[in-house]
Amino acid sequence: MIPVQKTEIPGPRSAELCAGLRRWESRNVTFLSADFPIFWQRAEGVNVWDVDGNRYLDLTAGFGVAALGYSLPEIAAAGGAQLRQLSLGMGDVHPSAGKVELLSSLSRLTFEAWGKGEAKSILGCTGSDAVEAAMKTAFLATGRPKLIAFQGSYHGLAYGAMEATQMGDFQKPFIEQLTKRAVFLPFPNCWRCPWGRGERSPSECDAGCRCALADELKRVFASQSVGAILVEPMLGRGGMILPPDWFVPLLRQVADEEGALLILDEIFTGFYRTGPRFVCERLGVVPDLICVGKPLGGGFPISACIGPAAVMDAWPDSDGEALHTSTFLGSPLGCRMACAFLEEIERRQRDLKVEEKGKQLLAGLSDLAHSGPPLKNVRGSGLFVGVEVTDRHGRPDAALAGRLVLALLKAGVILLAGGTDRHVLSFTPPLIVAQDELHWSITTLHALLEKIA
Ligand SMILES: Cc1ncc(COP(=O)(O)O)c(C=O)c1O
Repeated sequence: MIPVQKTEIPGPRSAELCAGLRRWESRNVTFLSADFPIFWQRAEGVNVWDVDGNRYLDLTAGFGVAALGYSLPEIAAAGGAQLRQLSLGMGDVHPSAGKVELLSSLSRLTFEAWGKGEAKSILGCTGSDAVEAAMKTAFLATGRPKLIAFQGSYHGLAYGAMEATQMGDFQKPFIEQLTKRAVFLPFPNCWRCPWGRGERSPSECDAGCRCALADELKRVFASQSVGAILVEPMLGRGGMILPPDWFVPLLRQVADEEGALLILDEIFTGFYRTGPRFVCERLGVVPDLICVGKPLGGGFPISACIGPAAVMDAWPDSDGEALHTSTFLGSPLGCRMACAFLEEIERRQRDLKVEEKGKQLLAGLSDLAHSGPPLKNVRGSGLFVGVEVTDRHGRPDAALAGRLVLALLKAGVILLAGGTDRHVLSFTPPLIVAQDELHWSITTLHALLEKIA
């Protein structure tokens, strides 16, 4: 449903709550201004209502979480029933039956589906948790402490995961505390080639960049004790960047040659966001470990690091004191909601028409970009789409991107700008978004561009 505006945006109640946030929340957490944020009150399908009664169309799916939209009745019912029956277990001591069901589903939908036998998982609550479980697993499996990660990557902000996050200024204030466990290599961004080979699209990328990266990988493996390559198969927060098709297979090949693990972070891209269930399926690459999160819990915070038994059994048997656990690990509520989400997404995925809707979004944005600045370099796969906002010279224009995000909010559209330069409008709507809602969004963006830019 398209937005309905009842008050100015933000409305008076949001403004009032904003004052409370300013007073009681630590300063860095929520960006506050006279125009931002709105306070959410409820959400359903692709829509969010704020505390002033305004209805919005959410083109972010709440950071990519609400893949099947908000408050899907089947998931809400599963969560409600579980909450009434058993909200909490003792994750690593006395778990609930739902944990076994979820673990077996994760195995079936990943390594078993890829013909690699059964998988084992470590559950967590956040994406950071899954990444850190993968980092620990890689060290136990290889005995090598370092890992290769990529410039522009975002793997979370807990201390371990932050070691491998290299976008924005997240590391900066803490740099002296970090162990520098990750070595960062360039992520092949064809639109702004890190090897200075000009602006192209991934399909035009040639062997030159592949050789350049292969050389860098070789150099790092030769000089450091690297046990894993950790990578997002498409950069999400780093700017919705699709690498050329040679990229992940090259990492697989090098990891094999070097006896290192390939860890794919599909926390953002997983579960049909880009079209296939996972990006690695389209590429025909099987990782050693895969991290999932975001949509997994149907809105409840739960994540997993999944790997074949041969890799995961680098962990010793528990002797009564788990080496890796947390209070809410594999909570009954999270497991139940995740099982409900997996059941629903698998049942509905064909009807979602993610690729068709993605093409529509790409085409609409490309039409807008054809007429020149400020939109440029439209890219995406499925409903994982980005477009750069630039100045007349093609340079990233974060200020204008911010103004567009704000203008869209005032028009009833929730959207975010990402990327290392914060200039990439990032479209990750719920996969259930309707084609006329996408059409309406493009038309609205067009009108705002004419007014603002
Ligand atoms: C690819 C990727 N990995 C990891 C994370 C971290 O997840 P969380 O914020 O749940 O810790 C994110 C969050 O945006 C992400 O996009």
